[in-house]
Formats: sequence, C-alpha cells, structure tokens
Amino acid sequence: MARLPEHVLIRPLGFADLDQVVKLESHTFPSNERAGRERMRYRLHAAPELSSGMFVRVPSKKGRCIKKDCSRAQRSRSSDSASSTSSDSSSGSSSSQLPALSFRRLNGSLAEDIEDDDEINVTACPRSREKLIAFVIGTKCAGEYISDDALAIPEVDKQGHRKTTEGNDRRGHVETGNTIAIESICVDPDYQGMKLGTTILRDFVQRMSTQAVAERITLLARQDMIPFYENLGFYNAGSSTVKFGGGGWNNLWMSLEDGEVDD
Ligand SMILES: CC(C)(COP(=O)(O)OP(=O)(O)OC[C@H]1O[C@@H](n2cnc3c(N)ncnc32)[C@H](O)[C@@H]1OP(=O)(O)O)[C@@H](O)C(=O)NCCC(=O)NCCS
Repeated sequence: MARLPEHVLIRPLGFADLDQVVKLESHTFPSNERAGRERMRYRLHAAPELSSGMFVRVPSKKGRCIKKDCSRAQRSRSSDSASSTSSDSSSGSSSSQLPALSFRRLNGSLAEDIEDDDEINVTACPRSREKLIAFVIGTKCAGEYISDDALAIPEVDKQGHRKTTEGNDRRGHVETGNTIAIESICVDPDYQGMKLGTTILRDFVQRMSTQAVAERITLLARQDMIPFYENLGFYNAGSSTVKFGGGGWNNLWMSLEDGEVDD
C-alpha cells in the first residue's frame, strides 16, 4: 500500500485548476512533449470527468486567511493561529473551530510552498489551499489507440460548435468514442518515486471502470516506461504512429470491462 503525504486528496480537475496543471506539466515534461495551455484548457473543458488531480493541502501565505469574503475578525484570528496552535475559546464562532491545520507539522518542501501564492485554489478551509502534485488527464478518442488527431483541438465555428470539415470529427475529445485516451500523467518531481503515479493511475482506472464510460483505456509510453504501465495491468500493443513529441511512442491499453486493477 502506498504511503501518501499528509492532507492528500484526489478529485477530478476543472478550469480552476488550469494554472496549476500547466505549471506542473512544464515542470515534469520536456518542452516537445507538453500539451500546453490551450490543449489543457480544451481537455478540461471537453471532458473534466476524465481527469484526476492529486492535491496536498497547504496553509495560505503566512497563515493569513485568503478567502475574499472573509471578515476582518476571521483574518485576525487566522493570523493569530498561524503563530499559535491554541484555540480561541473566547470567540465561540465557527471560525475558531476551523480544522487545526497545524503549521508546525509541515515538512520542509511544503513549508517552501507557502511563499508560492500565485495559484491559490481555496476550498473548504479559508486558511489553506490545494497544491496540485500529480494529475491524469484524458479524453475519449475515436479509434482504439491515440492518434495525432486525438491529441489535437477540433476546429470550431463562432458559436463554438465543432466544424464539419474533413477529419474534424476525429479531433480531440470524441464523446461517442469507446476508448479513454490518457494524454498526460505526471507527478511533481518533489514527490516522484513515492508511488503517487501508481496510486493516481490505479484510482483513475478504478473510477473509470465503475462509471462504465468506455470499454478501454489507452495511452502512449516511451520504451522505458512500459514496465510501469504493465505492472498496472496495461498491455503493450507495439509502436504508435503518433508523431507528437518527435514520435517513438508505444500504444498501451487496458480493458475496463474486467473491472479489476492489478496491484
Ligand atoms: C512517470 C511518473 C508519472 C511516475 O510517477 P511516480 O510516482 O514517480 O512513480 P511510482 O513511484 O508510482 O513508480 C512505480 C514504479 O515505476 C518505476 N518508474 C517510475 N518512473 C519511471 C521512469 N521514468 N522510467 C522507468 N521506471 C519508472 C519506479 O521505479 C517504480 O518501480 P518499482 O515499483 O519497481 O519501484 C513520474 O515519474 C513523472 O511524472 N514523470 C515525468 C512525466 C512522464 O514521463 N510521464 C509519463 C509519460 S508516458
């Protein structure tokens, strides 16, 4: 069983996560293998349910509350609690009972992230934000394996409808497709080698099996990555025709109808 970092959660990605997705991709992939902002935006728009993000919860900058509608009093209490873990027994308000995210429990690498406040995505706790540390992003493709068309963005008209030009029906996400194409999987370099890639991919496959959205999953892998995917139950179908990133890819696939993910 993988040991996860503290305060970790896995959930589908959305538009609000785009900046973090683009940033993490740029930290993990060489420039010729990056999808880039526009393709990531398209994929998160077309099929957010075919994505997964793994996050760790980290405190906001200097422990201040960063929620826009937070009252001055809350800000003050949040500030106080950053330097002290004792509770504010006098207030009796719900803000005094916010989860005791003990800043003293942070390890070195998370503590450094406190300064990195340009990608805030606050959810439940106004004193914390989610930092993306791994993701899987997919769409559905027309064929059994990923093609360059599957990796492209379809042409759309002024109303945003897909144009009926030659081959455009095979570009990007194909809602009627029976194959989920995983276009990206990555783990923050600070967290690699901790089985997080294994964990998020296994979780993704499990979710896709349960939701019965397609019959199979496919992805592209370089030669050295094939054992990683085979250990998770993927089969190697040999060389891909995809030219993206300079080519040299292999098609890996897995049936979703077996319903089980290899340990
Ligand atoms: C590939 C990646 C997602 C793996 O995530 P991770 O959390 O570091 O991997 P895990 O800790 O789950 O590793 C599981 C196994 O795969 C192996 N593995 C991981 N990355 C590998 C790599 N790049 N090449 C070969 N083997 C690798 C590990 O050694 C480990 O083997 P073990 O079980 O025998 O110890 C991550 O390294 C990454 O983001 N790389 C950069 C982006 C990338 O290449 N994505 C894949 C494109 S096909």
